[in-house]
Amino acid sequence: MADIRMEGVGHSYDGGRTWALRPMTWTWRSARAYALLGPSGCGKTTLLNIISGLLSPTTGRIWLDDREVTAVPTAGRNIAQVFQFPVLYEEMSVYDNLAFPLRNRGYPRAEVDRRVREVSRMLGLEGHLGRRSRRLDPGRQQIVCLGRGLVRPEVAAVLLDEPLTVIDPALKWTLRSKLKEIHRDTGHTLIYVTHDQTEALTFADEVVVLKDGGIVQAGEPAELFLSPAHEFVGHFIGSPGMNVLPAEVAGGVVMIGRTAVGRAAGDGGELPPGPVRIGVRPEFVQVLPSTPTARTAAERAAPGLSARITGVDRMGAYHLVHARVDGHTLVARTGTGSRYEPGTAAVLRFAAGRAFLFRDEVRCGSITPLEGGPGT
Ligand SMILES: Nc1ncnc2c1ncn2[C@@H]1O[C@H](COP(=O)(O)OP(=O)(O)OP(=O)(O)O)[C@@H](O)[C@H]1O
Ligand SMILES: [Mg+2]
Repeated sequence: MADIRMEGVGHSYDGGRTWALRPMTWTWRSARAYALLGPSGCGKTTLLNIISGLLSPTTGRIWLDDREVTAVPTAGRNIAQVFQFPVLYEEMSVYDNLAFPLRNRGYPRAEVDRRVREVSRMLGLEGHLGRRSRRLDPGRQQIVCLGRGLVRPEVAAVLLDEPLTVIDPALKWTLRSKLKEIHRDTGHTLIYVTHDQTEALTFADEVVVLKDGGIVQAGEPAELFLSPAHEFVGHFIGSPGMNVLPAEVAGGVVMIGRTAVGRAAGDGGELPPGPVRIGVRPEFVQVLPSTPTARTAAERAAPGLSARITGVDRMGAYHLVHARVDGHTLVARTGTGSRYEPGTAAVLRFAAGRAFLFRDEVRCGSITPLEGGPGT
């Protein structure tokens, strides 16, 4: 296990006209389970291939702890990689496929046997060890590939590039938990590539969100959910994603149309006046009745936005209430007890500390309560 340190690492496939991976400085810390999350084409595979040495970066340097490996080929890096589709020796038995990476490195026969049996037990392959790999279905073949990635005890890291694509959904859940369990047992550094937020959030200690070849945010799952640093993280994580609506900062106050919704607190000091975008997740938009008498005293005292309900999706465990505010649509997630009907008026309120301000898609601040605010 080792820290994988990248300094100014970037890659262009077209001689520098465009960057598939924009030069980045970043350290993958030893023994952590990372998910590398981002949409198709954002550079996930490019990044993995650079770490494993399959691809030589256009610019930048890479270290495994104190050893620079920028020019070291894959075989010398001690990194295991599992690809999206099964890559194995089809004519070899499952046992020999699993043993291959160990025999190749001169492990004693007894140790090879012990490791192969241990990994096959963890992945449920014991009953298939004698079978020729070609005879397995693609899902099972991919599990053998996972095994090959995990069989070497001393690897610096295991890189997994959407490894469960060919596995059927029910088995996916099992394997993902299994991988987590294996990670706990072995302490390998894992980098797991996916474009599926659920997969990323359930798997990783830390999720690294990649967009257009650049890291836009990295953090624990809860952090990405509660405190998105970029509009993209707000949209990509969460279901449905974060609401975004245009607003204006004037005199230190955030205005939607003519309604003051709170004070503008800049992340790095005072926020200059001008247009901003408010980002707030559906989970943090409260819907209140429009008639003050129907609200509690606390609800009456807090500022709110006049809204009109446009629709309600009944999702079983919760409701998604759609509303129009100042010409924009917002979604609120409410309990199933809410009885809002399309066409009726309501008041919306943002949970304290959970509405953020964005400029050029990057978070620049948050909304704090207006003392003795305008109320409604
Ligand atoms: N061998 C190549 N030659 C030229 N361009 C490439 C090559 N491989 C990838 N690209 C381009 O580089 C960018 C990043 O591709 P990459 O495969 O790293 O994305 P990805 O995030 O893994 O996508 P996916 O989720 O579809 O696997 C894309 O624009 C892609 O078209
Ligand atoms: Mg890819």
